[in-house]
Parts: sequence; C-alpha cells; structure tokens
Amino acid sequence: MHIPCKDIFHKSKIHIFPFSIHKKLRCFGFCGSLYAIVAFTFFFIYFIFFFSEKTSFWKQCKYGNFTQSNLIKPQDRIIPTNLSHIVFGLIGSAKTWDMWRPYNELWWRREEMKGYLWLEKKPTASNCSWPDTCTPFKISKPTAKSVARKARIITDTYKSILSDPNLKNQNIRWFVFGDEDTVFFPENLIAVLRKYDHEQMYYIGSISESVEQVMEFSYKMAFGGAGFAISFPAAVELERIMEGCIKRYFKLYASDHLVQSCLSELGVPLTREPGFHQVDFRGSIYGMLAAHPITPLVSLHNFNHIKPISPHFKTQFESVKSLVDISKLDSARTLQQSICYDRGPGAPWSVSVSWGFTVEIYPWFVLPKDLVKALITFRSWRIQGPGPFTFDTRPRSNWPCDWPLTFSFRNAKFETGINGINLTVTEYLMDLNPTDQKCESPFFAEASKVKMVRVIAPKMHLNEWKLAPRRQCCETERINDGEMLIVRINECQPGQSSLGL
Ligand SMILES: *[C@@H]1O[C@H](CO)[C@@H](O)[C@H](O)[C@H]1NC(C)=O
Ligand SMILES: *[C@@H]1O[C@H](CO)[C@@H](O)[C@H](O)[C@H]1NC(C)=O
Ligand SMILES: *[C@@H]1O[C@H](CO)[C@@H](O)[C@H](O)[C@H]1NC(C)=O
Ligand SMILES: *[C@@H]1O[C@H](CO)[C@@H](O)[C@H](O)[C@H]1NC(C)=O
Repeated sequence: MHIPCKDIFHKSKIHIFPFSIHKKLRCFGFCGSLYAIVAFTFFFIYFIFFFSEKTSFWKQCKYGNFTQSNLIKPQDRIIPTNLSHIVFGLIGSAKTWDMWRPYNELWWRREEMKGYLWLEKKPTASNCSWPDTCTPFKISKPTAKSVARKARIITDTYKSILSDPNLKNQNIRWFVFGDEDTVFFPENLIAVLRKYDHEQMYYIGSISESVEQVMEFSYKMAFGGAGFAISFPAAVELERIMEGCIKRYFKLYASDHLVQSCLSELGVPLTREPGFHQVDFRGSIYGMLAAHPITPLVSLHNFNHIKPISPHFKTQFESVKSLVDISKLDSARTLQQSICYDRGPGAPWSVSVSWGFTVEIYPWFVLPKDLVKALITFRSWRIQGPGPFTFDTRPRSNWPCDWPLTFSFRNAKFETGINGINLTVTEYLMDLNPTDQKCESPFFAEASKVKMVRVIAPKMHLNEWKLAPRRQCCETERINDGEMLIVRINECQPGQSSLGL
C-alpha cells in the first residue's frame, strides 16, 4: 500500500519534521522506509521492555515502587498479649503526686507491670524511700514548656526500655500512656489490646465525653487522662519524629493533642475504644456508669472534679477502691449492663443491672434502646451545662416518679455452680438518700418493697471480648414476699431477647 508522504504527515498531524522541511521532501520511497524504520524501532523497544528484566524497573519509573502488606501471621503472634508485653508511661508532678499515689496503688502491680511515672523533679516527701507499691518514678529532662516535657514521655519511656538491660530484650508489644490520676483496669486493658495485632501501627484510646472538649481538640484524638495505647511499631516511628513535632506544634498546650498531631503526620488514625474514660464531667457520673457501652471498662480519671462515684462512700477514694475491688472478682464483667423485665405483681418492671455498681428498677416499661442511654446526672466539663455529650444520654426529669429505684453494690462472693462453673453473687442495697424526694404514687408500691437485689452471673473470660459484642440476657425472680429480687445473668440463648420475644 502506497501512502503519500503528505498524507502521513497531514492525517496523523504528527509533525516530526518542521513543516518547511517536510514540504520540500519528495516521496521517492523515502517515506515508506521512514515509516518502516519508525515502526520497527517502536516494536523493538516494546519487545525489549516486555521481555527484559528491566521491565519492573520501567514500571517503577512510571508508577512508583509499591509494597503490599504481608497478610500471613507469623506463629509467635499466637501467644496472647499479657501484662509482661506492656510498658506504662505516666505523666506526674511532684506537687500533686502525694494526692494521687493511693489511686495508683489501687491498680499498679510491681511484680507484673513495667513502666515509669515521669516527674518534673524529685518528690520531696518521698525522698527516703519510694514505695514499691506504686509505679517507679523517673525525672524528665528539664524543659521550658511543660507540654514538651509531657509529650517527650513517649520518647523517654521508649528510650528507657532500650537502655534498660532487663527490659531491652523482652518482647514489648504496647506502650500505654496515662496521667498520674488515671486508674486502669489491667485485665480489661489486656482484653482490649488482644483484639489488635501489635506488629502493626495502632493508636488506641477514646475521645472526651463533652462535645465542647472534642471541639477544642479533635474527634481524632485519644484524650490523655483516659489513657491510650501505642503499638511498638507506631512508637518507633513516633520516637523518630517527636522532636520535630515538638518544634512544629509548639503552639499547642495539651501534650495529648501534640501526640495526635504527630501521629497524623504518620497517617496513623485513632482506633476508638470506648472503655477508656476521660471522665470530662462535673457532678455525678452515676448515669454513665449505670449504662456502660458493651465493651470492657479500661480506665477512669478526673476523680477530683466529680462526686464520689458510689453514694455509699464518703470519700472518692473509698468508692473507686470499691469498684477496683469488685473488678478483681470478675474484671471482664465490671459495669456490664444487662436488661430484663419482671412480670410479677405490680409489673411490668424494667430492670437494668450495671454489674458491680448498681441495679435500677423502673416500675413501668422502658425499652432497651432507652435503657442503654445514660441518665444525665452530670454536667459538661467547661461550661458545666447539660450537654451536648459524645454518647447517648436521656434527660432526668425533676419529678421523682420519673426516676428509677436504685440499688448500690454492697458485697460479693464466689460460688461454684453445677458443672463447676464459677459464679459471682453480688448484692445491691436500696439507696436511702434522705435528701432525695420519694415517689408516693401507688404504682411504686410493689417495687418499693424491694430492699435488696441479688445478681448471679457466671464469671466472664477475658477472651469473650474477642467475640462479637453482645449484651447478656437476664431473668428475674422475687422472693421473701417481694423484699428481694433475684437477677440471673447469662449469655443469651438462641431465640432469646431482652423483651422475651
Ligand atoms: C522497592 O521497595 C522495596 C521495599 O521497600 C525495596 O526493597 C526495593 O529495593 C525497592 N526497589 C527499588 C528499585 O527502589
Ligand atoms: C506472658 O507472655 C509471656 C510470653 O511472651 C510468657 O512467657 C508469660 O508466661 C506470660 N505471662 C502470663 C502471666 O501469662
Ligand atoms: C529527705 O532529704 C533531706 C535532705 O536531703 C533530709 O534532711 C531528710 O532527712 C530526708 N528525709 C527522710 C525522711 O529521710
Ligand atoms: C473456677 O475458678 C478456679 C480458680 O479461680 C479455676 O481454677 C477453675 O478452673 C474455674 N472453673 C471453671 C469451670 O472455669
């Protein structure tokens, strides 16, 4: 086929030669051979690219060098995470430590735990001996701004591990940071961390309960008082860029905000675990503890700004100690809610249990979707208003006949059930608060007879939290002429629901 030179250049509109040159060319076979040479050259180059080893190199030039995650899990990850794999880093101050030491001693276990409390200077009161019942302290390097000192606790803790001959070769999987007044529930912390692969980069924690606080900082930030966990690979990268972050974010005044800003440079997002509690509230946090989300209770904080968490104790310390003590009986179940309905005389009653903390009886029908919302017994952190909050709440009216009868945790014991199953028996006594108004309505009469609620439940295993979360079911029975209500909690059977439908 003969294609005139003119046509090639004009139809294809490819001006290989300047127009003035090609116009002068005459087509005595020259065009045909040029076409052939060009075609052959293209084919040759394509051939070389396709078959040569350099193909991937050229692909890299064109697309970039990509890597893909290895989805095969090595064997050693099967060993479940325990306390020996965790290093704690707590932010403290020599000025306030004496106040928080008793809270720290509630959860710290010298033989099982590793970590440091970082102080700005040596504490004066404890210069002779630092009790080994609490977290060992280290002194941070002096810095002009306290936010820099607090953010450096991440790198200081990391470096201390590498420089400690006893710890260097131990298999550290997680760093967990908190404040000196953070109370952790260690078993539940493990239950949560076991859900995640420590060989990947994780940043795990939760946001504030007060919307005004997350507006001030971020919905993507783990609030430091609630505590947060950083996996070892994330800590390695964070340590590498931390000094730069301290310079770049020198205007921030909260160290947890600085850490989150730094992690956002690495592209590591917050994995939200609502069992970490910053407790950005004023007033009573009763409503929040009575309707805990279906997740292990990992931490509590800010005890100085709220009323004693249980009305039966005069001091905050005693009431927190009571919760920590009961958590030792069945950590995984602590504060777990169960909802059931009693159909005896004067019924229906709606019964909501927060294990180890409270039982509520509503002598009328309240749907589960409402019982899982927290009664607003608290106010927000800054403006101390009635909200908004970052979780579901329902208002508490001023009329006492809208309030449930409440029973506070008093004592507990272990029992062995049939087949050797370990059971807990926890007892809750009617709250007698003389300042509270009482509802005199006749529909409260039967429920007001109840003096004690006894809750029987199987001990939960930590690994049950690896399964899909589900609120457990319960059944009620009235004994002693209606003076005692028995609540039996168990995992829901097929075909069972809270409403019994
Ligand atoms: C591409 O990336 C991988 C993994 O990071 C690296 O091992 C390899 O050398 C890189 N190749 C080139 C040509 O840069
Ligand atoms: C924790 O895990 C380590 C393995 O990394 C193991 O040697 C140790 O016995 C475990 N501790 C407990 C209390 O299970
Ligand atoms: C604390 O240190 C001071 C000065 O170093 C010393 O005089 C004092 O005896 C120490 N207190 C105790 C209880 O050892
Ligand atoms: C009950 O608890 C005891 C000690 O805490 C334990 O040794 C035993 O295995 C438990 N029984 C069951 C069935 O889990």
